[in-house]
Amino acid sequence: MTVRIGTPLQSSATRVLFLGSGELGKEVVISLQRLGVEVIAADRYDNAPAMQVAHRSYTLNMNDATALKALIEEVKPHLIVPEIEAIATEVLLDIEAQNIATVIPSAKAVNLTMNREGIRRLAAEELGLPTSIYRFADSLESFRAACDDIGYPNFVKPVMSSSGKGQSRVTNFKEVDAAWDYAMQGGRVNQGKVIIESQINFDYEITLLTVRAKNPETGAIETHFCDPIGHRQEAGDYVESWQPQPMSETALIEAKRIADKVTTALGGCGIFGVELFIKADQVWFSEVSPRPHDTGLVTLASQFQSEFELHARAILGLPVNTARHSTAASAVIYAGQDGTNLSFSNLQHALAHPDTDLRLFGKPEGFVKRRMGVATARAESVESARQLAKATADAVQVNPSE
Ligand SMILES: Nc1ncnc2c1ncn2[C@@H]1O[C@H](COP(=O)(O)OP(=O)(O)OP(=O)(O)O)[C@@H](O)[C@H]1O
Ligand SMILES: [Mg+2]
Repeated sequence: MTVRIGTPLQSSATRVLFLGSGELGKEVVISLQRLGVEVIAADRYDNAPAMQVAHRSYTLNMNDATALKALIEEVKPHLIVPEIEAIATEVLLDIEAQNIATVIPSAKAVNLTMNREGIRRLAAEELGLPTSIYRFADSLESFRAACDDIGYPNFVKPVMSSSGKGQSRVTNFKEVDAAWDYAMQGGRVNQGKVIIESQINFDYEITLLTVRAKNPETGAIETHFCDPIGHRQEAGDYVESWQPQPMSETALIEAKRIADKVTTALGGCGIFGVELFIKADQVWFSEVSPRPHDTGLVTLASQFQSEFELHARAILGLPVNTARHSTAASAVIYAGQDGTNLSFSNLQHALAHPDTDLRLFGKPEGFVKRRMGVATARAESVESARQLAKATADAVQVNPSE
């Protein structure tokens, strides 16, 4: 089992193509650059975060199968790393079937997880994992019936959406029609289909970062777990996370069992963000990202190898180390306004505490609720780390263009 990395920009280069160039991709690109990998970044807008640290970049609509195929033909990547869900995944299934490139972690994983129906049916119906009770609906009539059936409160999500877009929590039958309209506006590709989920009354929710990586001696793929990450969501978007989230021994064992089962079914090498709900010793599967997870930004401060380094190493076939060295937390920095050419100030005060750090993603445009950066902090306890990360994020001032 030898892994060989060539020289970037020469014929021996190991080329990795990123489909999606956000802040999570940016950190993976940096990790790959450190290992001498040639990186090509693509997204639907110019100067996306990962483009700014890649060797070169392309701007295209990755839902356009013809354009995506042409890009892959031109770049001739060894590995394709989908970083977002809005991709013509049928192209990736083809590329993998024809052995043209390796899709990370696997074309099946990317295809199933881009659609809430695919991953939910796999987890609940094929693998028998515990989930919320759910129904699917593709018309207002069937939606009303499903809400009636599931009861209230319930969660409604377009099957093709992320980061809380088009999602609502429906508390009674009077809100049903509005939730349908909202979901129809928020879906990524107008699929016209939603999932209705019963509410799980969890004590807390976690992301269990799960890495599938090759054993350096045998070449066999093994599963590794990071310590559980606790997080808090507002309107379906993560605002702070911390590691480790204290858990009962029983709940942790069950969380690992679920994560192992679902990531094994999805296959390939790389990191997965397995989202789980926990109440006492009981664990429910919620969803999974076949890539680094936004709540895992905390691992930049807590682990020897961040989730981004772990992903870079795993996809290259290299060994990983998921050990944590510190208790840490992360807090999100929003633009708080719409506009381009924004600037960030008061940084000397934000970073005055020696155990804090900052990532500013370099996004060319901000929106009120767009994530522009993240603050991380290390401390003796989760509570102090959360306070320190939040104080650091709050101290960063975002200024409009002058
Ligand atoms: N069935 C449920 N019961 C209780 N809470 C839920 C349920 N479904 C979703 N939530 C809450 O809403 C959050 C967002 O839901 P989900 O992860 O499905 O959406 P998402 O759009 O993929 O969000 P993200 O992209 O931020 O992960 C969850 O982390 C959880 O806090
Ligand atoms: Mg989620």
